[in-house]
Amino acid sequence: MTDAAATTATRPSSLPVKPRIYSGIQPTGRPHLGNDLGAIRNYVALSQTYEAIYCVVDYHALTHVHDPELLRRQTLEMAAALIALGLDPERCTIFVQSDRPEVTELCWVFNTVTPVGWLQRTPTYKEKRANQPDDVNHGLLTYPVLQAADIALPKASLVPIGRDQAPHLELTREIVRAFNARYGETFPEPQAVYTESPTVLGTDGVKKMSKSIGNTIEVLGEPEVIRKQVMSMVTDTQRIMRADPGRPEVCNVCRMHRFFGDDYEEIWAGERTARTGCVDTKKLLAERIIAHYAPARETYRELIADPIKLRRILDEGAERIRPIAQETMAEVRERMGLR
Ligand code: TYM
Repeated sequence: MTDAAATTATRPSSLPVKPRIYSGIQPTGRPHLGNDLGAIRNYVALSQTYEAIYCVVDYHALTHVHDPELLRRQTLEMAAALIALGLDPERCTIFVQSDRPEVTELCWVFNTVTPVGWLQRTPTYKEKRANQPDDVNHGLLTYPVLQAADIALPKASLVPIGRDQAPHLELTREIVRAFNARYGETFPEPQAVYTESPTVLGTDGVKKMSKSIGNTIEVLGEPEVIRKQVMSMVTDTQRIMRADPGRPEVCNVCRMHRFFGDDYEEIWAGERTARTGCVDTKKLLAERIIAHYAPARETYRELIADPIKLRRILDEGAERIRPIAQETMAEVRERMGLR
């Protein structure tokens, strides 16, 4: 993890005393293994020590989800999943982005300090444009500016994310630097915090795990679904026959075993000597993933069955950050000459 102390050196006087954590996740239904191993595990770990704020970013999702019912349902599902995976709403703040619309005002303000070229060059913009050529809406271009506003609104200095979000965080840093240079030191330059597996590959073993690619392992899915997804994983492509020795260091299945049990070296040895075959290793992985997430799956079911409780948690989260958001916006307005 990034050394938190490194962020405190140039702290403007109006910044929170303790480093504040912020991260956002899109409401794309239930999280996959990439979300958990790449980010959510760190959300949980960091919320034990720091003041942490986590957001289900439904405004961001509008760039590609256009079905209101689906958006509403998936927003609640993602919030339930975060709690089920270990976030305690008593210890950290969990809220829905559109419950704090101040962020859209800050996004507009940041738009005015962000050169268009920075956004056009962002690799994720190019990717999204290619993925949805019939819907290249302006939100896709401004997406990282809204992300910068998310992070800056609570003046967060540490941001747990997967590696795919690195270009967005770099842009956030540039945007707050541009704002601070024009209007005076207001926002910290946030730093990314990565887990041990900042890029989790999908079941194809080549591309990052992603719902839009369809190569995910759903951590809160039914056991049969998880089994099917794990059994579809591509292993070491050079291991053709069962008797061929495997290369666990390049096999996605073997690499994942590192996170589900402390005997991965033994499993790797079995692969190297061809004592075990790819199917054995996959079966074991599937059962371990199912067992690991069983308690979370149960909590998730309970939460989804009680939407009133879930909404209350989210309402409380939004209320908790209201004064923080309002204070930041009052300062921004004052600095910029807005009324
Ligand atoms: P999203 O919703 O795509 O993903 C949520 C988190 O999961 C991480 N992640 C992965 N990590 C490793 N390997 C993978 N295969 C993998 N897939 C996803 C992501 O890096 C992310 O940390 N733009 C963001 C949401 C966002 C945000 C923010 C994040 C909006 N505002 C402010 C941080 C701070 C996104 O689409 O994440």
